[in-house]
Amino acid sequence: MSLRLKPLHPVFVAEASGIDISQPLSAEDVQAIERAMDQYAVLVWRGQALTGQQQIDFTRAFGPLDLGLKKVFKRPERLEDEHLIDISNVDAEGKVAARNSPKNLSNFANQLWHSDSSFQDPRATYSMLHAMVLPTWGGTTEFADLRDAYDTLPERTRAEVEDISAEHYALHTRLLLGDDAYTDEQKKAIPPAVWPLVQTHPGSGRKLLFVGVHARQVIGWPTAESRMYLADLLEHATQRERVYSHSWQVNDLVMWDNRCTLHRGRRYDIAERRELRRTTVEDVPSVQRVAETA
Ligand code: OGA
Ligand code: MN
Repeated sequence: MSLRLKPLHPVFVAEASGIDISQPLSAEDVQAIERAMDQYAVLVWRGQALTGQQQIDFTRAFGPLDLGLKKVFKRPERLEDEHLIDISNVDAEGKVAARNSPKNLSNFANQLWHSDSSFQDPRATYSMLHAMVLPTWGGTTEFADLRDAYDTLPERTRAEVEDISAEHYALHTRLLLGDDAYTDEQKKAIPPAVWPLVQTHPGSGRKLLFVGVHARQVIGWPTAESRMYLADLLEHATQRERVYSHSWQVNDLVMWDNRCTLHRGRRYDIAERRELRRTTVEDVPSVQRVAETA
């Protein structure tokens, strides 16, 4: 069988089928999926009853795994493998997490528009999110295409953003949500990363506007001015016509390219269970990437 794609949105996102992603992939399958990701940036696979190990194996076909903030927070978790990121409101004992738990804080941070791990270098390429248990209302996940955001910038802004870089900081979302109880050791463990606002997506060759809520400062600008500027660009990037909203079904696996999309979770009743598992692929460090393309 070969990869089949059905577009789900006018500018990006396709439903993918025709390849059994629970089994080891051939080199041709990997390439076909990568080409589809270059074009669509988000692929939706339905009806994938994957074990944690199968999800890890599928993810590893695209590169080494990234653990994001897990290596900093080192909180006890319930999932069997440290490479699985527990995107749920369930605590280490398997109970629905307390309303004011760190678990829910992370989930609320995920409800702000972001690109996974943009606060670190190497950052993330693909993330894969697999649905296990879903609440009865809400809890959709939305995606926005940053290449379309760039293409639709007003001309004046497009010229302006060309030579600007922004600092992305892991704890910025937490601080925004009123959580500031971090030790100096934790803060030092995650130095900010700096990324140009305008980048070229390696797979599609398209330019994109790299914004998101982790971006807290335009390099060289006063803070208030840079925060408003970044907020304006983020608002542009996430206009409704650029957004795909995913209504989850159990055993969906959605994969997205963090280098050219943003995503956010939507509200649900946190007294109900919502359990998804994430795996993420680590990019090559930017110094190495620049050296390779020079
Ligand atoms: C993530 C994420 C959003 C959601 O898993 O990286 O941001 O809807 N999830 O759970
Ligand atoms: Mn995320």
